[in-house]
Amino acid sequence: MTPALKLERRIVIIATAFVVVLFGLAALAINTFHVGLPTCLTDVKPFQRGELITHSPDHYEIHYVAKMWDFEPKEVTVPAGSTVDFYVSTPDVTHGLILLGTNLNLMVVPGVVNYARVKFDQSHNYQLLCHEYCGTGHERMAANLRVVDAATFAARSTPTPPPQQNDAMAKLLEAKDCLTCHSIDGSEGIGPTLKGIYNRKTKLKGGSTVIADEAYLREAIMNPGAKMVDGFDDVMPKPEMTDEEVNALIEYLKNLK
Ligand code: CUA
Repeated sequence: MTPALKLERRIVIIATAFVVVLFGLAALAINTFHVGLPTCLTDVKPFQRGELITHSPDHYEIHYVAKMWDFEPKEVTVPAGSTVDFYVSTPDVTHGLILLGTNLNLMVVPGVVNYARVKFDQSHNYQLLCHEYCGTGHERMAANLRVVDAATFAARSTPTPPPQQNDAMAKLLEAKDCLTCHSIDGSEGIGPTLKGIYNRKTKLKGGSTVIADEAYLREAIMNPGAKMVDGFDDVMPKPEMTDEEVNALIEYLKNLK
């Protein structure tokens, strides 16, 4: 064997040994030290839910959860002059977060919490968008951040007292988990708002339009996937409700203007 061949053989043996040791260490790490794939940080509080945290009247913290295909929270209002700390993560795939008109531009990566701080001096309605292609609903991923003057902010922070009438209905909606997705005050949610729903002209997936009359509402409650409203996903489970409850709910919706 020539010296060159000997050298080559030695190199091959060392390289092979290196690979074997590497796999051995990986096996050791997995089995003995239980090192696994990184778990998603959104499994960990406080990143399970999107929320706005108030530290002081001019310092806020927003936890955004980006998921296919929405941001939570969808709508945030802060007063002008405040500093906002943005934290964002995702439980599913890689998204992006860009706040148009500012320098805020973050990647949203599963298992990672990304952070940026922005100070807002002027009142403005900012739009938050996903700028990383993340699937068929990507272009719908948007949220709003409103920066308003102090007076407007103070006015809107005063909680509106809950409606006294229809307490029984409010309890029913709560008990059947309707309010998780449907608001009764006109604000946007995972499902269409119930405010003013009766006889509303409603665009369906596929382009047709229906009037949300009694028959439509009954079907929408009892068989949620039958006619999908344009812009919403087929995620509503069939609620467990008696005929009386459905009738009462429809009567209630008729008057929810
Ligand atoms: Cu999320 Cu694109």
